[in-house]
Amino acid sequence: MKITVIGAGYVGLVQAVGMARLGHDVTCVEIQDERRERLAKGEVPFFEPGLKEMLNKSLEKNQLRFTDRVPSGVLDLIFIAVQTPQSETGAADLSYLQSACEMIGRDVQGDSIVVLKSTIPPGVRARIHEWLANDKLEVASNPEFLREGKAVEDFFAPSRIVFGVESKQAEEKLREAYTGVEAPVFVMSVESAQLAKYASNTMLAMRLSLMNEIANIADVVGADIRDVSAVVGSDPRIGSSFLRAGAGFGGSCFPKDVLALEAVGKEGGFDSRLIAPIIEVNKKQAEIFVQKIQDVLGELSRKTIAVWGLAFNAETDDVRESPAIRVIRLLLEQGVSIKAYDPQAIESAREVLGAEIEYASSKIDCLQGADALAVLTEWEEFIDAPWDEVKEALNSPMVFDGKNVLNTDRITEAGMTHYGIGLCNEDSQLLPSFS
Ligand code: UDX
Repeated sequence: MKITVIGAGYVGLVQAVGMARLGHDVTCVEIQDERRERLAKGEVPFFEPGLKEMLNKSLEKNQLRFTDRVPSGVLDLIFIAVQTPQSETGAADLSYLQSACEMIGRDVQGDSIVVLKSTIPPGVRARIHEWLANDKLEVASNPEFLREGKAVEDFFAPSRIVFGVESKQAEEKLREAYTGVEAPVFVMSVESAQLAKYASNTMLAMRLSLMNEIANIADVVGADIRDVSAVVGSDPRIGSSFLRAGAGFGGSCFPKDVLALEAVGKEGGFDSRLIAPIIEVNKKQAEIFVQKIQDVLGELSRKTIAVWGLAFNAETDDVRESPAIRVIRLLLEQGVSIKAYDPQAIESAREVLGAEIEYASSKIDCLQGADALAVLTEWEEFIDAPWDEVKEALNSPMVFDGKNVLNTDRITEAGMTHYGIGLCNEDSQLLPSFS
């Protein structure tokens, strides 16, 4: 099939490369010159496991090309994957979507289906048709559920594929496009597909905020949230993933999508009581974590804390909405000096934090002269750290685990104390002071 993808950001690039690897003839439209030129040379501007290799294979086989305009000729599907950032009101900013639609409507010659791949609020289909202003174009929705760090895996082995369509013909074309990907397919209206995406992200974010609040209560009563999560997650109605508490979740999607969903309700006159607090709770969690560090270390000014992890999640260099950045900013406000290490995200963190912190070239270097260690991303190399060496290097044997991922026994055996959120153990049990 002849496929066009508008936007070579995170979502668009995975879609373009994935479709090319499925055997389609793909053109990816990217208006930023530098990004487009780098991609055409096989360089991916961010870290995503496996993506660079696949991009290069697609380029070698001439299944994928990058341009700055929509190609002429017959196009089966045009995926729109431009950004929909949060506006000042919390609603999604649709200006990039509007420009993409106007370009498509103006340049596309024949019949085609415009597929919304970006997360776009339900209820704007009529506006999209107005922007397209081309009655040869149909609108469909095929929301992405890609996790950063696992995007390639999620493209080829997704948990589900969703098609929101205006016609049977659009469903057939989309099914044909995904031939070779085994997953349950859900076909529905465009609005339902869009709402399903928002509902999925909001449900995941709500689980995390709820478990984070329960972890705070675990701290109050001296319970261990890991045992509590194991019991809660063993109920098949609930399921065990996305129950790990910590200093909050991050990433570019959850906060923006949760607030956009709330805004969609509000615009239609429905005021949700449950949705907005998901984000408030999440922000507060970083403060609770920093308060815990202060409860243990006392006055923080002039202390040095080593931070392992800057990215919002393992296997990515993305620091957008990263809890690590939130925690670091709060520590800096208290006069703490920070030395940080991350296997991939140092350059992206430097763009945000500049010279406010020191950057280390290895996780052990990062510890020299530090009063304690805070682990803020769930990278495997932190989980498997040589704790004896860590103890040797630190001024005091304390590790604050903002992701609740470390093994308490291994840390205790090395003679260190493991503090987390809601991790009750004999040494670390402290009543937190919530403000
Ligand atoms: C999310 C959705 O998972 C994906 O389907 C959607 O398309 C985009 O948004 P992403 O933001 O890339 O993906 O990462 P995800 O794996 O969902 O993690 C989000 C955050 O939650 C991370 O900061 C992670 O550390 C945190 N998390 C995850 C927890 O704190 N606890 C958990 O149990 C799981």
